[in-house]
Amino acid sequence: MENNKQKFYITTPLYYPSDKLHIGHAYTTVAADAVARYKRLMGYDVYFLTGSDEHGQKIERKAKDKGLTPKQYVDYIVGTFQDLWKMLNISNDGFVRTTDDYHVKCVQKIFKRLYEQGDIYKASYKGHYCTPCESFWLERQLKDGCCPDCGTPTELVEEESYFFRLSKYAPRLIEHIKTHPDFIQPASRANEMLNNFLLPGLEDLCVSRTTCKWGIPVEFDDRHVVYVWLDALSNYISKLGYLSDDDSLFKKYWPASVQLVGKEIVRFHTIIWPIMLMALDLPLPEKVFGHGWLVLDGGKMSKSKGNVVDPVKLIERYGVDAIRYFLLREVPFGSDGVFSNEALITRINSDLVNDLGNLLSRTVSMIEKYFGGTIPAHDAPADEDNALIELAESLPARIDEHMNALRIPEALQEIWKLVGACNKYIDVTAPWILAKSDESKPRLGTVLYNLAESLRIIGALLQPYLPATSPEIFRQLGIAEGELTDVAKLDTFGRLPVGGSVHKGANLFNRIDMKKELEELDAPSAKPQTDAAPAPAKQQSEKPDEAPQYIEYEDFAKLDLRLAKVLACEPVKKSDHLLKLTLEVGSSTRTVLSGIRDWYSPDDLVGKTVVLVANLKPRKMCGIVSEGMVLCASDEGDVHLSALTTMAEMASGLKVR
Ligand code: MSP
Repeated sequence: MENNKQKFYITTPLYYPSDKLHIGHAYTTVAADAVARYKRLMGYDVYFLTGSDEHGQKIERKAKDKGLTPKQYVDYIVGTFQDLWKMLNISNDGFVRTTDDYHVKCVQKIFKRLYEQGDIYKASYKGHYCTPCESFWLERQLKDGCCPDCGTPTELVEEESYFFRLSKYAPRLIEHIKTHPDFIQPASRANEMLNNFLLPGLEDLCVSRTTCKWGIPVEFDDRHVVYVWLDALSNYISKLGYLSDDDSLFKKYWPASVQLVGKEIVRFHTIIWPIMLMALDLPLPEKVFGHGWLVLDGGKMSKSKGNVVDPVKLIERYGVDAIRYFLLREVPFGSDGVFSNEALITRINSDLVNDLGNLLSRTVSMIEKYFGGTIPAHDAPADEDNALIELAESLPARIDEHMNALRIPEALQEIWKLVGACNKYIDVTAPWILAKSDESKPRLGTVLYNLAESLRIIGALLQPYLPATSPEIFRQLGIAEGELTDVAKLDTFGRLPVGGSVHKGANLFNRIDMKKELEELDAPSAKPQTDAAPAPAKQQSEKPDEAPQYIEYEDFAKLDLRLAKVLACEPVKKSDHLLKLTLEVGSSTRTVLSGIRDWYSPDDLVGKTVVLVANLKPRKMCGIVSEGMVLCASDEGDVHLSALTTMAEMASGLKVR
């Protein structure tokens, strides 16, 4: 039977199984989990989706390196993801894999439909091809109709690809963004999308590849596989059964309430994805939220510090809720935040051990000591009680406001205001002094009741963030989960029944000796094996740990860096990775090979201005002499790679300095 609860559909991006997950990856998923849990507790009918993005040439190549088929390889890695999500208490309702059959079928149907309605079209690139040189040339580059390199007459050839008419939908998307300020959050990211991509004009997008085989074949033209982003983005509806025989979940949950994504993939989720949805005549998600990155203190998550960034090791060492708390509390949601062992240990010691853990253990101990473990009766509140009670009663509404705006750290700060107020209340009321006379025993009872009741409220409010800790708080307070732990019913102080029994338990969190811990983490034995090391954060450099090795200016000046325009580009036949670029460098042209075929198809590069190391000693690869090197930026796992280019249109041949 259909329930009448309000629906809430939340998604994370799909993770690439090309590397082991690091603590930065856990960040998005833990944040989404906290929101999903919160909404469930508030009575929403929630669907929380995460999954893995398994196609593409990089994965094909990694599998080959390991002697596995791509499917064997992704099955193994995705298994490790799922184990990690279990360890982190991630409460996802669905897990989508882009290799799942229903997903493959859905993507094929979407592609076909867009093709049939004219939003995807086949176009060809025309070029003059020199067979001996395996080079494409533009008309204007030919010398008397012949190859400018070897003088052989060229052939006119055409390469076919499918293109998605992004340009057609751009005006509608611009209008949507302008009239729906909540659609892209934080607002600065909406301006970035408008100013950097949409307003300057969108070009149609090439959405098929013939160079990669590990992908979803275009159903009606299986020489082509679907572009990975078109494939991956469809997951948000394929898992709900869109275009399948059973689309009940889709009807129930789409459009998504919140799609959480890291800042570097906001572009795909707020341009390509909404245009796909418009073309399919589907409503757009209510909100795409681009969060910042977790970066490492000192600027990197390096392999030698793998124990620092491997979420499994962190959970084993400090406990799941300590890690969840750190991720949710430390980083202003939307901005970048720094991960360091010191910061993590400081949070554990101060917020979790001192503030929360001590509050519970002192309260329970005093109830045991002064009232034999029975929750005492209470008198009408005194003035010093009222401030605490008001704070506790107003807390749920303030948290609701923060959570609806995805201000997760602020929601936790609010809870800690009550934790802090309770600790102060103990200092001010000094129960140990009240305990000294029988006359003040009723007052002592009221104080301890107010503390236990505040802890009930704290425990209930903490459930979305610290799902392993709240049950322990309830257990020590002798509360069964149900009415009394219901977050939607917390605005009345005093519902904790008098006469219940408390049960002293172990510390919620244990104090860590910072100095000893840091020494231990630095000791070689704490360092993981290289093959167990996680991938670094995307934005981190790859420099080794030691002090910088400076070079003299004269050394730098030896480099001849030049702007070069890509006149032609093609895959090198004998290689899986290389592209052969014909570059215009001022008045001359030269051939340069670059191992960037996984990230760029030739058409992505033609016409672009790149940065060339022009005086690198020529080197022969696959029978072709490469005269220089194209500079690119990439993360450690080479998940993301970008060729360097200029902000303004500049002539080729200019020096880069
Ligand atoms: N597969 C694509 C997403 C396709 S969604 C249709 C992808 N995968 S990813 O594995 O590279 O990244 C997954 C998520 O992890 C992204 O939201 C990314 O921003 C996030 N993070 C990866 N490193 C991170 C940090 N160091 N800090 C915070 N989040 C980071 O992109």
